[in-house]
Amino acid sequence: MIEPPVFLDAYRVLLLGSGAREHAMAQSISASPRCDRLWVHPGNAGTEAWSVDQPLDWRNIEQLAGFVQRNGIQLLVVGPEEPLVHGLVDQCRLHPLLQDLLIVGPNAEGARLEGSKDFSKAFMQRHGIPTAGARTFRAEQREEAEAYLRQHAMPVVLKADGLAAGKGVLICDTPQEALESLALFWTEQKFGEAGAKVLVEEFLEGIECSVFALCDGQDYVLLPPAKDYKRVGEGDTGLNTGGMGAVSPPPFATPELMRRIEERIVQPTLQGLQSEGVDYRGFLFVGLMKVGEEPMVIEYNVRMGDPETEAVMPRLQSDLLELLVAAASGKLSGMELMVDPRFAVTTVVCSGGYPGELRLGFPMTGLTGRDYTEDERLFHAGTKREGADCVNRGGRVVAATVLDADLKEAARRSLALAQEIRFEGAFCRKDLGQDL
Ligand code: AMP
Ligand code: GLY
Repeated sequence: MIEPPVFLDAYRVLLLGSGAREHAMAQSISASPRCDRLWVHPGNAGTEAWSVDQPLDWRNIEQLAGFVQRNGIQLLVVGPEEPLVHGLVDQCRLHPLLQDLLIVGPNAEGARLEGSKDFSKAFMQRHGIPTAGARTFRAEQREEAEAYLRQHAMPVVLKADGLAAGKGVLICDTPQEALESLALFWTEQKFGEAGAKVLVEEFLEGIECSVFALCDGQDYVLLPPAKDYKRVGEGDTGLNTGGMGAVSPPPFATPELMRRIEERIVQPTLQGLQSEGVDYRGFLFVGLMKVGEEPMVIEYNVRMGDPETEAVMPRLQSDLLELLVAAASGKLSGMELMVDPRFAVTTVVCSGGYPGELRLGFPMTGLTGRDYTEDERLFHAGTKREGADCVNRGGRVVAATVLDADLKEAARRSLALAQEIRFEGAFCRKDLGQDL
């Protein structure tokens, strides 16, 4: 018989991050009857109710440890990748005051799946996980890289090895363009140290899907899948962004496709981590391309997706806090997820200029305009309080999610909800879900 995990009645939780992803997670955590107190840091105007009223920086482990101890925090949830890749979890594990702290997020070794595309490609190859073929080159190998590009099939994909905030991927249609792109990495140093190694990868043609597993080192639960819209312009045109919106579930993610993804990708990945001695506790986000009927990995991330989280969390009916505690303490076995069968569509309202030069600091209206229904959610991202006003302070400003049994209706209503938010320069994509 599977032993049910034993939970405390009340948890004090610290959630790190400042995006709509964290606002969405904070809403779900605070809705748990087991949530005694939640802090979100650095947060945004939407997470003010959970703000930290003293200096706190994850890079300063003594400061973090002091905060955790003084406030009796039992659970740390790391939202973004940066602290994970930089070894925050490892530092906590070594700190005498943090020995009992439960943590959602992998250690630095696990986080290499996102922190180094060269590492993650080699990992996939070692464990037979389907992915595009690729070769890695260093700046010293420039001539070799150029010769390789001249004879490579087009389009070809160039990727910075390290963290580049979603901007380190260039898709090139001609050898000429590929050679020019190589110069961005090695002549102009556009990606700094992250671009010191470049992956030259085969282009995959298909439709993208984001799949999320919450892992406890041994077991996992699969969260609802989502599709993210990365290009800034309608019809998937223009520059890549952090994500202009999301749909969960994408209708093409059939039970058969999800079964394949679990068997060929999620399970081998977690087994691969275990066999290499990595105790992976946290979210594993697999970015996939469905090529024909075959799922292939484009990238791993070691956190939840943004804006996917804003579509996934509202559909999650299970207690998120219980799931996070179970993942952090190695007790996910036997836990089942309850998921709202309705579609969730998230439309992201962006600042003028995004993803280029941003127009910031404008007062916003429409954020608290009326009573929202159960199926409408607004999540703040780049917002900040300035006196009585809320102003835009980042590229992606607010995520507007609507749940509806009908996908087209969810998309129409999500757009309408997003359009209630107004500030100078605000814009959003108006075609989300129309390709599905
Ligand atoms: P990444 O930062 O790895 O998520 O890549 C950003 C985007 O580039 C992805 O979401 C895809 O749309 C695209 N991309 C990355 N790798 C490939 C590939 N091998 N083939 C086609 N598109 C890709
Ligand atoms: N939406 C893609 C990401 O979070 O990386």
